[in-house]
Amino acid sequence: MMSGDHTTDARKTAEGLAYLSGFGNEHSSEAVPGALPHGRNSPQRAPLGLYAEQLSGTAFTEPRAHNRRSWLYRIRPSAAHPRFTRVDNGGIRTAPFTESAPDPNRLRWNPLPEPAPGTDFLAGLWTLGGNGDVTQRTGMGIHLYHANSSMTDRVFSDADGELLIVPERGGLLLRTEFGLLHAEPGEVALIPRGVRFRVELLDESARGYVCENYGAPFQLPDLGPIGANGLANARDFRAPVAAYEDVERPVEVVNKFCGNLWRAAYDHSPLDVVAWHGNHVPYVYDLHRFNVIGSISYDHPDPSIFTVLTSPSDTPGLAGVDFVVFAPRWLVGENTFRPPYFHRNVMSEYMGLIEGAYDAKAEGFVPGGGSLHNMMSAHGPDRETFDKASAADLKPQKIDDGLAFMFETRWPVTATEQAAQASHLQRGYDDVWQGLERHFRN
Ligand SMILES: [Fe+2]
Repeated sequence: MMSGDHTTDARKTAEGLAYLSGFGNEHSSEAVPGALPHGRNSPQRAPLGLYAEQLSGTAFTEPRAHNRRSWLYRIRPSAAHPRFTRVDNGGIRTAPFTESAPDPNRLRWNPLPEPAPGTDFLAGLWTLGGNGDVTQRTGMGIHLYHANSSMTDRVFSDADGELLIVPERGGLLLRTEFGLLHAEPGEVALIPRGVRFRVELLDESARGYVCENYGAPFQLPDLGPIGANGLANARDFRAPVAAYEDVERPVEVVNKFCGNLWRAAYDHSPLDVVAWHGNHVPYVYDLHRFNVIGSISYDHPDPSIFTVLTSPSDTPGLAGVDFVVFAPRWLVGENTFRPPYFHRNVMSEYMGLIEGAYDAKAEGFVPGGGSLHNMMSAHGPDRETFDKASAADLKPQKIDDGLAFMFETRWPVTATEQAAQASHLQRGYDDVWQGLERHFRN
């Protein structure tokens, strides 16, 4: 089949999908009526000759509010697989990152170069950096992807963490064990740890970002005095309905485990789950649904107010990683410097841009690119932005031409050797702050 036909078919499928709604719900779905057992998880004989299998996202004993698990009813049990053997890791790297020294400099990259023809999502994954230690289930990896081909008879799963996929260019159809998801730029998709999936492209190419969260699964942040509603609303998260492949032909299954890729040649597709129930599920979320909350008097709140999802650590309020979005919003602060202020942050910040421009950077920060401001590295608006904002007439102002995001993390981020040496690393990034003049008078 020509790839053009494939993307047309995939797009038709993607645009016709139905979903279940809500974050963290106890969902249930069956692709064939009667496939889901009732009243018990593991009957003596599961319906329709299916195998029952539990998939844990948290330890069995974690508190109910954090506990994640699903029950899958599948044509073959996952245990029926051949031996995995090591394959080349390609552009994928995993923490602990020891190949280069953590860099206190502010770093910024242009988008990934064009991939070779026939590069699929998995082959197109390229690790920029990260922190923590995958074997301790702490920290995260920051990846970019650039693909021009759908995964065909090839499935990926990541034992090392959940994958938060942030498309920047090109739509994706994600075929998962739980069913199908459609994610366009401006939306994000999450694949839980260990869930098998395949990525099909809906356009000629696809580009974007991935946060591989080795730590506790992302959850919605607490809202405190904000109240019962706001930021990312739970009902706007969409999970797939059950859909299965009953395919008996060779399928390559690639498993990322403790930093390395392993493959096995199955004689069937493992996307063979006919029914499932549980709360450990893939989902998509449209960032345009984010309810942006900000100041209606003066100053603006710290950017934590823009948190979409958070991966908590053992210390309350201290995230392994926060996913933060800078969505369209009004600025109305009186006598206030309105762009993001200058700061030095104990947390480390990787920022990417999905569309348009970001209000603290007049130029150089482009869609598909990204910046890394590590622990205590001083950053803030560039000179042009500072000059403009300091003289601006403070009328209500709509910021509506951009969608930027941040992976903000408790530990410094070490850039991989390939990122530190990349031809698309911007060598003169420091220059954006060099023209800031002295205005002090005494
Ligand atoms: Fe910052």
